[in-house]
Amino acid sequence: MSVTETVFGTMPDGESVLCYTITNKSGASAAVITYGATLQSLLVPNRSGGLTDVVLGYDTLEDYRKNKMYLGATIGRVGNRIEKARFTLNGKEYGLFANDGAQCLHGGKIGFDKQNWSAKAADDSVVFTLTSPDGDEGFPGNLTVTVIYTLADDNALSIRYFAVSDQDTIVNLTNHSYFNLAGQGAGTVLDQTLMIDADRFTRIDSDIVPNGEIVPVAGTALDFRKAKPIGRDIGAVGEYMDAAQGYDHNFVLNNKKGGLALAARAADPQGGVVMETYTDQPGVQLFTAFDFTGMRGKNGAEYGSRPSFCLETQHFANAMEHPNFPSIVLHAGEVLDSETIYRFTTAK
Ligand code: GLA
Repeated sequence: MSVTETVFGTMPDGESVLCYTITNKSGASAAVITYGATLQSLLVPNRSGGLTDVVLGYDTLEDYRKNKMYLGATIGRVGNRIEKARFTLNGKEYGLFANDGAQCLHGGKIGFDKQNWSAKAADDSVVFTLTSPDGDEGFPGNLTVTVIYTLADDNALSIRYFAVSDQDTIVNLTNHSYFNLAGQGAGTVLDQTLMIDADRFTRIDSDIVPNGEIVPVAGTALDFRKAKPIGRDIGAVGEYMDAAQGYDHNFVLNNKKGGLALAARAADPQGGVVMETYTDQPGVQLFTAFDFTGMRGKNGAEYGSRPSFCLETQHFANAMEHPNFPSIVLHAGEVLDSETIYRFTTAK
């Protein structure tokens, strides 16, 4: 197990953006950069004895800074959409930046994905910290956030989140990695299979904002209870699918016992890479980016259409509008402590 540090780029103010690469005993590695506390590459063993980079990303800081799609980034303060870019907490209304139509998406104008975090490397992990001041992007409270990436010898990448605020506030942290288990740039993910342990999902309106209804997946294109190819029902039309050009939905995870539990299992039948997602979060957003044609990624990769899927573990979007959704309020002095693990194996 080792962690190496290199300079990835320089911010306009002269600050260095560092890249840390954690390598385990099987040669698997995770590279994380301080800009956005971003997962830049993730090399995992494949069936032929080689390594496959299973996340989309860029080679340069300039590309990350231009990037509007949050590739691999840590998302905050509040992942996904806040309807009409405002919320009420303790009787007070807070206004946010509307960066997605009328909505606030993924934290606003300069979310956590666009900031250069502080970092410290340990044996098998990298600890990122960020202080978001009171009023940052309109959110109340001085918020201190810690995100720890750990790569274990069994090829499990853990992302652990801590946050604490000096005032009541709202928080919903996630990671926005785009996975392709055949390798980044290896074509579409439509033949890769996916199981999501969710009987229900949160219904969205035409702006991809949950309207508060929780609907059974049974009989819809969102039924992933048994593994099926991601592409099988992706073109389905109708009230549940029309808004999102494919999947951009939050699944209500079954997780009856609470704590860390298997949320999803994805597999590439060709290369044999299998990814299990474990989380203690109540939901996961499945996002199948529609078309990245023209986007060039690492090593000149052409991403094209349907090049990846995201499994953003989270609290449900628009939670402040719907008291039936799990709360994203973080009370003053309370410690948010959450973990998501992406664990990789190979299938015969
Ligand atoms: C999330 C959202 C999507 C999209 C992507 C990144 O998955 O739900 O609608 O915004 O992030 O752009």
